[in-house]
Amino acid sequence: MKSFYITTAIDYVNGSPHLGHAYEKVLTDVIARFRRQMGDRVHFLTGVDEHGQKVQASARERGIPPQQFCDEVSAEFRALLPRLNVANDDFIRTTEARHKRVVAALLQQLFDQGEIYQAEYRGFYSTRQEQFLQDKDRNPDGSWPELFGEVTEITEKNYFFKLAQYQAWLVEFLTKHEDFIFPRYRQKQVLEFLKDPLNDLCISRPRERLEWGIPLPFDPAYVTYVWFDALVNYYSAVADSGQWPADCHVIGKDILVPPHAVYWPIMLHALGLPLPKSLLVHGWWSINGVKMSKSTGNFIEPGEYVAEFGVDALRYFLIREMNVGQDSDFTRAQFLVRYNSELANNLGNLVNRTLNMTTRFAGGAVPAAEVAEDLEKELHALWDKTRAEVIPLCEGFQFHTALERTMAFVTATNAYIEKRAPWKLGKSAAPADVALLRTSLATMAEALRLAVALLQHVTPSTTAKINAVLGYTPGANWPDELAWGTKLTGAKVAAALVLFPRPAPADKAPAKP
Ligand code: MSP
Repeated sequence: MKSFYITTAIDYVNGSPHLGHAYEKVLTDVIARFRRQMGDRVHFLTGVDEHGQKVQASARERGIPPQQFCDEVSAEFRALLPRLNVANDDFIRTTEARHKRVVAALLQQLFDQGEIYQAEYRGFYSTRQEQFLQDKDRNPDGSWPELFGEVTEITEKNYFFKLAQYQAWLVEFLTKHEDFIFPRYRQKQVLEFLKDPLNDLCISRPRERLEWGIPLPFDPAYVTYVWFDALVNYYSAVADSGQWPADCHVIGKDILVPPHAVYWPIMLHALGLPLPKSLLVHGWWSINGVKMSKSTGNFIEPGEYVAEFGVDALRYFLIREMNVGQDSDFTRAQFLVRYNSELANNLGNLVNRTLNMTTRFAGGAVPAAEVAEDLEKELHALWDKTRAEVIPLCEGFQFHTALERTMAFVTATNAYIEKRAPWKLGKSAAPADVALLRTSLATMAEALRLAVALLQHVTPSTTAKINAVLGYTPGANWPDELAWGTKLTGAKVAAALVLFPRPAPADKAPAKP
């Protein structure tokens, strides 16, 4: 069995989670579930990034110790995961002993290897981004971009990691491993960034300025720079279980360069540790074209959509709407379009018809197909094509297209029902019509079973509910579930299932963009 270790970014705990955080966790969960279905032994890690200036400042504002603040906010992030149907195997907090121990050990190793030195540093510092800035970061008019918040000039002694000496190695690595970063054009952006010389990385903050961090093992007057601490989570969580390296780090585009594409590979290389196999870089959810973020107040609360429409409707929308890697605007109107047309009127309709007609015309037990005329053959052929396309699409992270194809198959099944018109066949006692009626009932039930098998990693609860009303328990081998066959013959179906109820009228619904 192939192992597959996948991670998400670990979220800052200085605010509550919003839809952008939720998306990344759902996307990673969809990949993890898909890999499990394909037979991999998956390890899925997510967690929270708890150190740093912003957390310290937020805790002070509330007048509570930073650890208590972290405990409260981390609990909120953690509680969101089961609400999103995210089945992670581990959740790491950077304040845990298992993490701090590994960060200290790695820093000590680099120090002993002579990769870390102390020097005087004078520069412009952004508290919001917790990083020193360079002149190239300025706006053309000399001011600092809004993104950096308040920028102050400071001079202090700090510790530096010898990053620059690995620049040529990194360029060569990226040139040789074209598939390291998905989408590929992001890898080109990293190489573009590496055309300018790298500076060594300041990896410490004096304790008098920032207390809330992991002390440097070789000089406790300093704490570890938050990125050096945070990136290590991917390794510290599995350091004892031998699961390193990760197969895939899922991250947003804002944290690719420099942290994940430059610092992290170089840190690992300097430590003599293997590199992750790949980085999957997703885009941003925005509202009216502006990035969703807690600090600007421009965000969607994922819990509200879960409460109103159900977890799978939200998961379906996030995965169907966004082409992984690109940006998407979130609007309630677009959410409702997909909810109504794809989930309620297409999939929901197929479920209702199947249950209803099997109950009405076959006493609630799925009959065996008796004939295969052109209409059936066309649907079988479309299924073969859909299945053959969807698996490679999912392997290549094209989940939005995979869902589109799956829903096209559902649409074709509804069209098949229209053409066969079982409600007409049910009025005839002619043997040919009876055979066609039984065939049509068997065909719609089997098509529904197959379609929901392809939706399983995106909408796991819906798939389970539909299988339950079809009186069906899927086998353990998912690829086997995708063969058109007779698995449902004789199954006792339920009379009805309300899956995607009509949303409340707009005036009763929470105000949304
Ligand atoms: N703590 C760092 C990551 C450390 S990883 C070793 C961080 N935290 S964050 O809370 O700001 O962001 C966490 C993840 O959420 C990032 O991958 C980020 O890209 C993602 N998102 C935050 N806002 C987002 C959107 N509006 N849309 C999609 N994802 C976005 O960065």
